[in-house]
Amino acid sequence: MKLLTERLLIRDFEVNDCDSVHAYASDPLVTEHMIWGPNTLAETKEYIERMIGMQRQSPRVGFELAVTLRANGKLIGGVGIHASGLQGEVGYCFHPEYWGQGYASEAAAAMLRFGFLELGLHRIYATCRPENIGSAGVMKKIGMTYEGHLREHMFHKGKWHDSLQYSILEHEFD
Ligand SMILES: CC(C)(COP(=O)(O)OP(=O)(O)OC[C@H]1O[C@@H](n2cnc3c(N)ncnc32)[C@H](O)[C@@H]1OP(=O)(O)O)[C@@H](O)C(=O)NCCC(=O)NCCS
Repeated sequence: MKLLTERLLIRDFEVNDCDSVHAYASDPLVTEHMIWGPNTLAETKEYIERMIGMQRQSPRVGFELAVTLRANGKLIGGVGIHASGLQGEVGYCFHPEYWGQGYASEAAAAMLRFGFLELGLHRIYATCRPENIGSAGVMKKIGMTYEGHLREHMFHKGKWHDSLQYSILEHEFD
């Protein structure tokens, strides 16, 4: 699958993407607020294989996609949407060299468009750790509304974590 935005080509992952994904998935700065990582090369390989497996779902409900620059084809991050019934969850992760240029917002907005217009979803939400200011910035920028603070709702990397949750409804999307 392929989606085009002004600056990005968002597409399914391929086996050859492993090195480009590992460049950011192995970076402790990138994975600081994630439930996974920093990845070993074996973990990144296993992730890519799992994402390629997801492409065979029928009907497909999981879309974990590579974000590439239209200008030169470079893979700069990943974005995804996972549907469960008429609700979807969006996520994103980018190489630090490309932070602060609006790429995450551009890719996440494309996921909203895809989720509402192609998958027919009613509600799309996203969560981030409370200290992940950049991620909350993306959610606000794409028109999501703050819903609340989930307290210690998941356990990973040896401790309990809170999340901020944001969402957008079908009729709020333009
Ligand atoms: C979070 C992340 C995806 C943001 O990507 P990005 O491409 O820099 O985001 P954008 O440039 O689209 O920024 C969106 C908004 O958030 C703001 N923002 C982004 N990073 C910020 C930061 N570190 N501090 C404060 N504001 C920030 C931007 O200023 C922008 O708002 P503005 O247009 O009003 O100025 C990126 O930092 C990343 O990949 N982090 C590691 C992985 C991760 O944490 N993923 C999210 C898990 S919930």
